[in-house]
Amino acid sequence: MGQVPVVWLEAGDFFGDPTPTGDMQNKMLIKGMSFIRYAAANVGPRELAGGIDKFLKFSGAASFPFVSANLVTDPGGKPFVEPYVVHEIDVRAPGDDEARRLRIGIIGFTAHKRGFLKATPDNKNLVTIPPVEALERWLPKLRRKADLLVALVAMRYEEALALAQAAEEMGMPLDFVLGGMGDFVTRDEASMLGSTKVVYSGNMGKRLGEVRVFLDAERKPARSVFDAIWLTKDYPGNPDLESMVGATLDDMGEWFSAHQTFGSPLTPVVIGSSYTGAGRCKSCHEQAFAVWEDTVHAHALDTLVRERQMYNPECLLCHTTGYRKAGGYIGMSNTPQLAHIQCESCHGASGTHPESRVAGFGKAGIQSCLPCHTRENSPEFNFSSYWERIRH
Ligand code: HEC
Ligand code: HEC
Ligand code: HEC
Ligand code: HEC
Repeated sequence: MGQVPVVWLEAGDFFGDPTPTGDMQNKMLIKGMSFIRYAAANVGPRELAGGIDKFLKFSGAASFPFVSANLVTDPGGKPFVEPYVVHEIDVRAPGDDEARRLRIGIIGFTAHKRGFLKATPDNKNLVTIPPVEALERWLPKLRRKADLLVALVAMRYEEALALAQAAEEMGMPLDFVLGGMGDFVTRDEASMLGSTKVVYSGNMGKRLGEVRVFLDAERKPARSVFDAIWLTKDYPGNPDLESMVGATLDDMGEWFSAHQTFGSPLTPVVIGSSYTGAGRCKSCHEQAFAVWEDTVHAHALDTLVRERQMYNPECLLCHTTGYRKAGGYIGMSNTPQLAHIQCESCHGASGTHPESRVAGFGKAGIQSCLPCHTRENSPEFNFSSYWERIRH
């Protein structure tokens, strides 16, 4: 059989926030993807959120090309990066004695936004044009150079379908459209539009979209299977990548710990009632406190410490009490009493309640859980069975 060739592709919109720690993340992503030997990445709005200079700095360090057919300079209409690339691999189709070349044409598209505009170093603007317009311009050229057509898309599913439809109408159907937009994930059974497979694999790096392609004797896709694989602990980490990630997390942690102080621009001003901490509830609600103390909520920040993510704002939002809210958790040094998930994560800020002690205060129910128990972070969440485990 020989080894099955693997082609790694990124649908775009994968950069971190345009902040110092987001920059650290991007540097790591580019390094890691180069290490894995990605074949190409699409350019989405996130890649350009920090401006063109930054994008060029990051992409310049990549061992793989970035593609986009509909990001162009204005005036001029010149593509900002390569509209497409042709990636070649050796495959053995049924009946082949020897491996033969398969040319994979990879073209990138991002959603068209009228308001999108970035200044280029030579005083022009970078804008998007409608994807179908770019498709009409580049697809005929790419078709001649490639055996297999793959579009990477950073846009809504409906827009991706329209793009696939347009290619079909041009008589040059795309074989695969690989997309990412929010947490949207497609199912294999519903992925075909004519002869094009359109698949989405979700966000936040939680899943790996895998398309297995089986070729016929003509080296055309006879059949393909898509799966959005949850990257659970069942898949062992690569030690080299893990040490790269670890070093980046430490750098990010250092930055966050230096910046999470009172008076930081990230800290909202407290007006009126705010968070007080479970310690103050204990004396009057002893039973509730005793139950809570034994739940994982009461140790949720320890989980982040274990993962070396205890400074990552993205995680603190759900693993502490009132993070980014007035009077909520800031950092271990100045708000240790609001570490972990406490009473007030569900009952709301209760600063004045211990004095007023009114009944009917702090109504909680399923709505209290949903901001954290999202489909992405708690796929098995079910209120009645989960509530049973923390009932008080
Ligand atoms: C000094 C005592 C005291 C403290 C401290 C206190 N509570 Fe209360 N709490 C009460 C009283 C009294 C009531 C009203 C109970 C009643 O009349 O049913 C109440 C009611 C509540 C209710 C509504 C329960 C219901 O059935 O209406 C919630 C929720 C609640 N407290 C949460 C908290 C939280 C969270 C804290 C800590 C931030 C806290 N309490 C601190 C005395 C206290
Ligand atoms: C939107 C809220 C949310 C965000 C953001 C979030 N988490 Fe969580 N996390 C949860 C919930 C809810 C669970 C529990 C899931 C369950 O068991 O159903 C959880 C569970 C976990 C667990 C498993 C705990 C265990 O030991 O089994 C780890 C590890 C974890 N989170 C780490 C992180 C890290 C690291 C980040 C940031 C990159 C993060 N979380 C961001 C809500 C969130
Ligand atoms: C993960 C969310 C969550 C946390 C954390 C939590 N609670 Fe609750 N609490 C709820 C929900 C949901 C209810 C049920 C409301 C109902 O049954 O209508 C409730 C009910 C209560 C009640 C009313 C009980 C009754 O008999 O009506 C009190 C009092 C209370 N909680 C206090 C606390 C205190 C004190 C803490 C912290 C030590 C705490 N809760 C932590 C979600 C939470
Ligand atoms: C502020 C965010 C937040 C809220 C609100 C919240 N949870 Fe959680 N919950 C988490 C996180 C994070 C974890 C995982 C903690 C860990 O292991 O580090 C978790 C874990 C749990 C677990 C244990 C799951 C397991 O696999 O062991 C249960 C049960 C649970 N939550 C129930 C609830 C219920 C019920 C509510 C609403 C009444 C609720 N939670 C509200 C963040 C939250």
